[in-house]
Amino acid sequence: MTGRYQRSNDENIVWHIHPVQREDRERLHKHRSAVLWFTGLSGAGKSTLASALEQALYSKGVSTYLLDGDNVRHGLCRDLGFRDDERRENIRRVGEVAKLMLDAGLIVLSALISPHYAERQMVRDMLPVGRFIEVFVDTPLAICQARDPKGLYHKVRSGQLHNFTGIDSIYQPPQQPEIHLNGTQLITQLTTQLLEVLKERVIISFSNPV
Ligand code: ADX
Repeated sequence: MTGRYQRSNDENIVWHIHPVQREDRERLHKHRSAVLWFTGLSGAGKSTLASALEQALYSKGVSTYLLDGDNVRHGLCRDLGFRDDERRENIRRVGEVAKLMLDAGLIVLSALISPHYAERQMVRDMLPVGRFIEVFVDTPLAICQARDPKGLYHKVRSGQLHNFTGIDSIYQPPQQPEIHLNGTQLITQLTTQLLEVLKERVIISFSNPV
């Protein structure tokens, strides 16, 4: 990480405890909050799956927000590129936003490549234990390349794009993700699988809300 993103702790800034807490907001939403952190190669299906899950949750009255890597790079992270230090800052910022949204009582779906162990661990460490659910969308590179939904792998092959994850920039697959999905399965199957996990973990329970 380069110096321009670092900031020292300021002893003149004091944390203010407000009376309305996460648990109060969770009661209002009638479910617990959590961060589902989708990681995987470009084209693995992270955004598509997160979007399908968000629609399913929305239809069941669950309060969600989807933090999509490509979309946040149009605003919050528009000043960042794809060098390692920039990816790290990208993930730090999205992690901090996810943390606020968790506190707001939402189920946050974040879909970022997040290629390095260290950054995913950084976000896990920011959040209360059990609230970070790492979802590895495991799709072989060859399939991502064949799908090529944004034409980026084609650009890489023709030399117009460099430092691309999985090609000339590293992707470190999670060792022990909470959820390991086969990204070649149907989105409907994967969505059902994720809904089951959310119920098992008593994040959502439609018959018996928290
Ligand atoms: S991350 O590495 O910092 O987590 P992020 O998820 O925000 O990446 O953005 C990845 C998206 O940006 C990809 O889905 C792809 O559409 C686009 N992209 C553009 N250039 C690159 C690149 N060099 N490596 C990976 N993705 C890229």
